[in-house]
Amino acid sequence: MTDPNRDAGHPDEEPLTGDGVTQGIVRVGNTVRRPVRPFTLTVQAYLAHLRAAGFSGAPVPLGLDDQGREVLSFVPGEVPREPLPPGTAGEEVLIELARLIRRLHDAAQGWVPPADATWGGIPGARMTTSPPDGRPLLVGHRDYCPGNVVFRDGLPAALIDFDLAKPTTRVEDLANALYWWAPLLHPKDRAPAFVDLDIPHRVAVFADAYGMTAPQRHALVPAATRMIGRFHVNMRAAAATDPVFRRMWDGGVKDRLPRAEAWIRDEGPAITARLTAAG
Ligand SMILES: Nc1ncnc2c1ncn2[C@@H]1O[C@H](COP(=O)(O)OP(=O)(O)OP(=O)(O)O)[C@@H](O)[C@H]1O
Ligand SMILES: [Mg+2]
Repeated sequence: MTDPNRDAGHPDEEPLTGDGVTQGIVRVGNTVRRPVRPFTLTVQAYLAHLRAAGFSGAPVPLGLDDQGREVLSFVPGEVPREPLPPGTAGEEVLIELARLIRRLHDAAQGWVPPADATWGGIPGARMTTSPPDGRPLLVGHRDYCPGNVVFRDGLPAALIDFDLAKPTTRVEDLANALYWWAPLLHPKDRAPAFVDLDIPHRVAVFADAYGMTAPQRHALVPAATRMIGRFHVNMRAAAATDPVFRRMWDGGVKDRLPRAEAWIRDEGPAITARLTAAG
């Protein structure tokens, strides 16, 4: 059957641009069309599992269209951009995000990816997560940047852009969310409304809302520290191979990541102390 929207630039196709990593994303009615990448079918299988497990905070996978593009449901709401707007600095945003991720993790728990699963990553990445043996793995989102969180009524309601999803631990995945939303950044690199916030307190609020266990609380800062170090190595490598990442690197990432590494070295102990304090 001929897709009535097959011509590029068709008036019914509204271009969607996020952080500019993925070209060619368009909205068509209640659907989004995205280019197919090697990991697309694996991610669609994951999204189908999430839906079957009762998680509604992610796009519904709808297969491929007759142009060979990925089709997903359009998730209504507002997607913030960096710098994060002042309205997103409240604790209720952190609490709702933590609850959303808890529901995602609980739905993901126990899903065994297909034997031929293929996962995405940033171009030229040198370091990948390799959680120590024995830690339970689940497929997490792994990229909770502002452009991947859909808000409704001022609160996080859904997640989009599962391009970096892959097996990880709950703690590693939570470290990523906190990097963006606590945030785990030097004050110089935070949006204005986040500069003076009490980050150890915010991390504890998030941990309570998620229901982090004592071992997870002890593991968080070490995981975040490794993750920020990995971001630094991988973003430098990506900048050397891909012009979009080169622009991000030159546009400030090259300074932000070393500052974040130094900041978490200094502030990490206070975060762990707050996270693990009794009561
Ligand atoms: N299923 C969806 N429902 C609603 N909006 C979407 C959906 N998919 C994408 N969008 C919108 O399009 C923007 C870009 O999409 P997406 O996040 O998938 O790509 P990207 O931002 O280029 O990739 P990256 O986040 O890796 O840079 C999103 O920030 C969001 O505003
Ligand atoms: Mg995105």
